[in-house]
Amino acid sequence: MPQPKVLVTRAIPENGLELLRIHTNVTVNQEDRPMTRSELLEAVHDVQGVIGLLTDQIDAEFFDAAPELTGYANYAVGYDNIDVPEATRRGIPVSNTPDVLTQATAELAWALLFAAARRVVETDTVMRSGLWPGWGPLQYLGADVSGRTLGIVGAGRIGTAMAMMSRGFGMRVLYLESPSGQRNQTLDEHLNAECVSFDQLLAQSDFVSLHCPLTPATRHLFDMEAFQRMKRTAILVNTARGPVINEDDLVKALQEHLIAGAGLDVYENEPQIAHGLAALSNAVLLPHVGSATKNTREAMAELAVRNLLAMLRGATPPTCLNPEVFK
Ligand code: GLV
Ligand code: GLV
Repeated sequence: MPQPKVLVTRAIPENGLELLRIHTNVTVNQEDRPMTRSELLEAVHDVQGVIGLLTDQIDAEFFDAAPELTGYANYAVGYDNIDVPEATRRGIPVSNTPDVLTQATAELAWALLFAAARRVVETDTVMRSGLWPGWGPLQYLGADVSGRTLGIVGAGRIGTAMAMMSRGFGMRVLYLESPSGQRNQTLDEHLNAECVSFDQLLAQSDFVSLHCPLTPATRHLFDMEAFQRMKRTAILVNTARGPVINEDDLVKALQEHLIAGAGLDVYENEPQIAHGLAALSNAVLLPHVGSATKNTREAMAELAVRNLLAMLRGATPPTCLNPEVFK
């Protein structure tokens, strides 16, 4: 039997590609950029499997362009780029990469939290400019972290891991009730965390960290109205998806000091950022690097490939988003 044809829409770590090459006939996009829409649609016309990125839209038009497709593996945990119901309607399994990037992403949320609280980037810039006048009692005062209140929006895998890391800082932990109303037992047991309403979380948190998926319910959850209900000393951290925040409203809220600061890894219109954001010294801006450690990206590559190889064999992949297609 000929090996199945597979497209990888942008180079992923070599450990994944090696494994794919053993079992499939692989084509990897050789450009160091995402494929354009027309390149993608053209490249999938005769493939059975695709490994794609969060920047690839996997929708009806994509499936129409790939009539032989038997599986799509997302090289990301977030899957707002995939129309999962459409895949399911067509009987095409799709997968993501949960778990392997949980700790790395939670750690990056802490990097942003501390950077914003202690003005790490702003003051690094002062040092490099040669304009530091020497130590001063009133210089560069930031916010304490220990003993303060951390609000988690999206207490799933990453939100839970991020909250658990607060143990070293003795924080009070609040989390937003999940849409299904379920409590988070890990956080309840280990942190004595409180499950609160959105209003309570906004009003009481010193730090708010976003870990929810992007859905119609979470799009622009953080807008001017939400910022007005937060503490003026609050810091907002986003390692989830950019559109959970109305970025123009955030710029205004930071300019007007409705909240004290923000640490962002994701943006509404990547790779663009909202007008005015770059000029704000109370924002820390990272280029969507939540999972960007060598080990984590290799683990994501291995998981995405294992998912795809299972789907090509007609088996349920380890982390399937629509296992009902196998029933
Ligand atoms: C990255 O944003 C991911 O969803 O894995
Ligand atoms: C995804 O959002 C996760 O929690 O792993």
